[in-house]
Amino acid sequence: MRDLALRLCGMIAGVLVDLWPQFGLIIMTPRLELRLPREEEIVALAEVAARGVHRPDERPFLTPWTDGTPQERARIVLRDHWDQLAGWSIDSWSLGFGVFRQGEPLGAVTLRARDFVVVREVATSSWLGLDYHGHGFGTEARVGLLTLAFEHLGAVAARTEAFQDNHASQGVSRKLGYQPDGLSVDARGSERVVSDRLRLTRDNFTGWSQRPEVTVKGFPACRDMLGL
Ligand SMILES: CC(C)(COP(=O)(O)OP(=O)(O)OC[C@H]1O[C@@H](n2cnc3c(N)ncnc32)[C@H](O)[C@@H]1OP(=O)(O)O)[C@@H](O)C(=O)NCCC(=O)NCCS
Repeated sequence: MRDLALRLCGMIAGVLVDLWPQFGLIIMTPRLELRLPREEEIVALAEVAARGVHRPDERPFLTPWTDGTPQERARIVLRDHWDQLAGWSIDSWSLGFGVFRQGEPLGAVTLRARDFVVVREVATSSWLGLDYHGHGFGTEARVGLLTLAFEHLGAVAARTEAFQDNHASQGVSRKLGYQPDGLSVDARGSERVVSDRLRLTRDNFTGWSQRPEVTVKGFPACRDMLGL
């Protein structure tokens, strides 16, 4: 009975990848696997967010999605995941990968683009559960996303944005060679906050000698969905 159930799950997973090939896209770094979470994994990922994404005295996001209760945070992770899947179009897409270490979810990283076929630029964002900060996972996951963007999609530049007081996010971008690309000023509640806009070109990224090895599987099947 169990064998039959497992075979059925495998068949359903195979059909899902045929219909939505992004589910077969896997980025492997030395310690991490980045991939779209399956329905049964998204709950575990949402629970990571529920346990906390940053210290209570920090507020790293403009959209205050981490301000609510643990249950509200978890629900936002679910809603964003479903939104990204349902809102997919060649003109505006968002790949919200779970970050897994030996099957355990640590957080999420997103690669998104508008009019990519013409513009050839991507943007990234990320969060890790609080327990996983400061071990180099954020840098390793970003390198995985950038490898997909520059070496497979054919992006010419990647953008990101971080508050000037977000030292961890700024640290990841600095290590990878992002260059200043202006400032944004926004309201964080009643507070005026300045963000650094940062930009990394393909040439600067490919020139980084300490890059960990990254393998990408399942990209060719995604070309149609990306308009490439
Ligand atoms: C931002 C985030 C993804 C970074 O991932 P991480 O795994 O913690 O970062 P890393 O360990 O890869 O650190 C990268 C660099 O930043 C530095 N850094 C990390 N945390 C730091 C901190 N709190 N203060 C100062 N520097 C810090 C590291 O020392 C490292 O540089 P080094 O190797 O030269 O020493 C993670 O901290 C996080 O999820 N934060 C909360 C959510 C968030 O801020 N998201 C981004 C919104 S723009």
